[in-house]
Amino acid sequence: MTGAKTFPPGFLWGAATSAYQIEGSPLADGAGPSNWHQFSHNPGNITHNDHGDLACDHYHRYAEDVELMREMGLKAYRFSIAWNRIFPEGRGTLNTKGLDFYRRLLDRLTDAGIQPNVTLHHWDLPLALADQGGWTHRDSAHWFADYAHAIFRELGGQVRQWATLNEPWVIAHEGYVQGTHPPGLRELPKARLATHNLLRGHGLAVQAFRADGGEGEIGLVVNLEPKYAATEHSEDQSAVARMHAWMNRQYLDPVFLGHYPEELAHIHGRDFTDFPEGDYSLIQTPIDFLGINYYSRSVVTSAPGLLPFHADRVRQMQSPHTAMDWEVFPEGLTSCLLWVKRRYGEIPLYITENGGAFDDPAPIKGRVADPDRVAYFREHLLAAQAAIAAGVNLKGYFAWSLLDNFEWAFGYSKRFGLIQVDYASQTRTLKDSALFYRRVIESHGAELWR
Ligand code: FCB
Repeated sequence: MTGAKTFPPGFLWGAATSAYQIEGSPLADGAGPSNWHQFSHNPGNITHNDHGDLACDHYHRYAEDVELMREMGLKAYRFSIAWNRIFPEGRGTLNTKGLDFYRRLLDRLTDAGIQPNVTLHHWDLPLALADQGGWTHRDSAHWFADYAHAIFRELGGQVRQWATLNEPWVIAHEGYVQGTHPPGLRELPKARLATHNLLRGHGLAVQAFRADGGEGEIGLVVNLEPKYAATEHSEDQSAVARMHAWMNRQYLDPVFLGHYPEELAHIHGRDFTDFPEGDYSLIQTPIDFLGINYYSRSVVTSAPGLLPFHADRVRQMQSPHTAMDWEVFPEGLTSCLLWVKRRYGEIPLYITENGGAFDDPAPIKGRVADPDRVAYFREHLLAAQAAIAAGVNLKGYFAWSLLDNFEWAFGYSKRFGLIQVDYASQTRTLKDSALFYRRVIESHGAELWR
């Protein structure tokens, strides 16, 4: 129904989290340490030296949290599995107690009628594997596929929707270029290796899923950000092309078209080498859906820097910004969805993350007023609907995030939750945005136009 103000029947309304950001108890029940456990305990890496030892204590409070999801009327919940709970050493002996936590969570979700959407890797890598070079080791793709295979076998009966990786660009860029995530390096050639092995691991995991006759669907989650040039100068225009290739096309071109963008040769310069031909058909193994995480756009200007493709973000003074200092730019979501359809074809899409950090007030009589977040969700859901009206096959939306949580290098200083978490008492309070989202879900979107 092109142009109609409605969401398709069966459109999935969900919210998302990830393991290290909410679970706490990172070493409980025989889990091995992860790269994020080590990184966050290393002073100076995280704002206020925060870490995930307690986080939202979801490891113990998952039942209460599923109850809150039910209260909000969520139809789906996207979460990730901590690889280091399942294989404390990354490979070898499976830790049944770690797996049992996810079984308990899945049982609760089933009872509540909430569909799970499970991500296998949302950045927390077993430290034993990180110590062997992590994603720069060519075997990492096989380590990941073996772990994925075990999970499909053990949890396949309870899960119908899988994602292999969350945002491989962030793993490579923040981990190996910016050094703000583990392993904290600034070595561009390693980013290329990590990217390639992540994508090989993704392909191998999809093949393992198919080989097992896995029921349901499997996809990949990437973060997309439209790039705009700050001026019409040719240097800024080519900075935009490089940034777009580096962040958006570097992952989707190989998965859907079987090759990396040409710009990468320029970006890597003398260090540019190619990979075995067979890798590309592996990476191109067909998937069932693509998950898109969208937060903002960036307006870039060419700037000399540490890296050959360096380009600076230019703050748009006239636009509202979130507490992350990310510009609020809903039309970028519509344009990303349309761009994916145009460039890569008719693959079913989900928005697997979208949301904003804001400085929320303390609850007053049980109410948390977060009008900026309500506006953010409203505008982005309308932007998503505009893409549907223009013919995009968008099948669902997951708000980031269910709970305030550990926002990586920013620790607990940034709050993205629909539900406020008082970390000291672990009290949860539904924010106004959660109540708004409940009305959106109940009305299957009609609330957006009220
Ligand atoms: C995304 C991550 C997610 C969260 C949001 C704000 O890049 O996937 O874990 O940190 O950003």
